[in-house]
Amino acid sequence: MPSQLFATKSIADIKEADAQGQQLHRTLSATALTLLGIGGIIGTGIFVLTGTAAANHAGPALALSFIVAGLGSAFAGLCYAEFSAMIPVTGSAYSYSYATLGEGIAWFIGWNLILEYLFAVATVSVGWSGYVLSFLDQFGIHLPYALSHAPFAQGGMGGESFSVVRTGAILNVPAVAIVAALGTICYVGIKQSSAFNSVIVAIKVTVVLLFVFLGVGYMQHANWHPFVPPNAGRSGVFGWSGVLAASGVIFFAYIGFDALSTCAQETKNPQRDMPIGILASLIVCTILYVAVSLVLTGMVSYTKLNVSAPLAVALDAYPALRWMGIPIKLGAIAGMTSVMLVMTIAQARIFLSMAQDGLMPKVFGRVHPKFRTPSTGTVVTATCAAIVGGLFPVGILGELVSIGTLLAFVTVCIGVLVLRYTRPELPRPFRAPWPWFTCLAGAAICLLMMYSLPLSTWIRLAVWTFIGVLVYAFYGYHHSKARTKMAVQPVRPATG
Ligand code: ALA
Repeated sequence: MPSQLFATKSIADIKEADAQGQQLHRTLSATALTLLGIGGIIGTGIFVLTGTAAANHAGPALALSFIVAGLGSAFAGLCYAEFSAMIPVTGSAYSYSYATLGEGIAWFIGWNLILEYLFAVATVSVGWSGYVLSFLDQFGIHLPYALSHAPFAQGGMGGESFSVVRTGAILNVPAVAIVAALGTICYVGIKQSSAFNSVIVAIKVTVVLLFVFLGVGYMQHANWHPFVPPNAGRSGVFGWSGVLAASGVIFFAYIGFDALSTCAQETKNPQRDMPIGILASLIVCTILYVAVSLVLTGMVSYTKLNVSAPLAVALDAYPALRWMGIPIKLGAIAGMTSVMLVMTIAQARIFLSMAQDGLMPKVFGRVHPKFRTPSTGTVVTATCAAIVGGLFPVGILGELVSIGTLLAFVTVCIGVLVLRYTRPELPRPFRAPWPWFTCLAGAAICLLMMYSLPLSTWIRLAVWTFIGVLVYAFYGYHHSKARTKMAVQPVRPATG
C-alpha cells in the first residue's frame, strides 16, 4: 500500500480522464466566474461572524484580521490560479494533489473538500433559516418553532462541548427547503445556476455598498480608540493574539473562491479565465470586507457587537438609518443563498472527479444526459446537506469547515512549489509570482489560522480523517483506477 499512497497521476492522464468522463457544458466567461466567486464568498462571514469576532477577539482591529485572512487567501488564491490554469479539471485541489503529492494525499484533500463544501452548505442553510425567520417576523409571519429549528442542539458550553441535547423541535424546514431548491437549480444546469447567481450577487453587493456609503457618515472616532484593545490576559482575547484569533474565525468569510476551480470544465477559456475569476473575486471581496469592518466598528462600540446580526445593530443605533434594516436582511439572505448554490456546484464536481478515479462509487460520477450536470453528485450533496442542516446542531460546523478548507489551501500552496521543481517544463498559462515566498507565506498564514482554532475543532477533524481513512482502505484502495489499470507512476519521473 505505501507505494500506492505516494503514486501520482500524470497531468495528461488527469486531463484525459476528465475530458473522457464528462460532457459538461462550456458556458462560463471570466465575468461569470468572477460573479460565481463573489457568490461563493460573501455570506455568513460578513453578515454574521464579524460581530462576534470584533466583540470577543479583535475589537476595531477586526479590519486587520480581515487583512491577515485576506493575505492567506490571496497567496493560496495565486496558487489556485496557477494550478487551475495548468490543470483545468473539475477536481480542483483534489486533482492538483493527485498530480503532485500522490493518491493518499489526494484522497485526504478530497475527503476534506467534502468537509468544506458539503458542510458549508449545511452550516449556511441554518444561518439562512435564522435570517428568514427574523425577516418574516418583521411582517408578522411566525413559523411554528417545531418546524423551523433543529431537533438537536449542542449541549454544554460553546464549541468545546461534544454533547448533544434535544430541543423539542422536529425539523428545520426552511433550511431543508432552501437546500432542496438550490439543489434543483444545480441539477438543471450550470448556465441557469450562473444566471441565478448573478442576480443574487447584484443584490448582496448593492446592500454591502449601501451599508458602507451610508454608514461612513456616522462613524465616531471614539469607537476606534484604542484600535487594538489591550490583551485581556488570555491569548486570543484582544491584543495582537486577538487579531490572529479573529482572523481564524472570519476566515470563513473568504471560503468560496476556490470553489470556482471546480468549474474549469464548464469555462470557455479556463487557462485565461480561471486566474481572472479567482483573483478578481478575491480582490473585490477583500476590499468590501475591510471597508465593512472599518465602518461597522466606527459606527458602534465593538463591545455591542456580540450578536448574530451586527450590521443591523449598527444601523439600529441611528434612527436615520433604521430603514436599512430590511434591505440588510435581504442582502444577508441573498448572500447566503448564493454561497450555498456555489458550494453545491463545487461539491458535486468533486464527487464527479473522485468517482472517475474510482475513489468514490461510480454512480457519483454520473453526468445527466440532457442537462449535462453531475446529477447524482448534486442529489447526494443536496440530500446530505439538507439532512445535516435540518437536523443537527451546526453552530460548531463553521470552524470545522474552516479547518478543512485551510488544510486544502496549505496542500495547494505546497503542491505548486513541488510541481515547479518536479515538472518545471509544464506549460503554465498563469504563474504565481515569487513562488518560494508566495507558496510558503500562503502555507504559513493558513497554518497559523489553523493553529488559532480550538482544540475541539482539531479533534473533530481527526475523527473525520479517521472515517476517511476507513473509507479509503475499504473502498478507494480497491477501486482506484490508477492502481487497477497499472497507470500509476512514481513521483519521478512523470510524463505528460
Ligand atoms: N464565505 C462563505 C460565507 O461567508 C462561506 O458564508
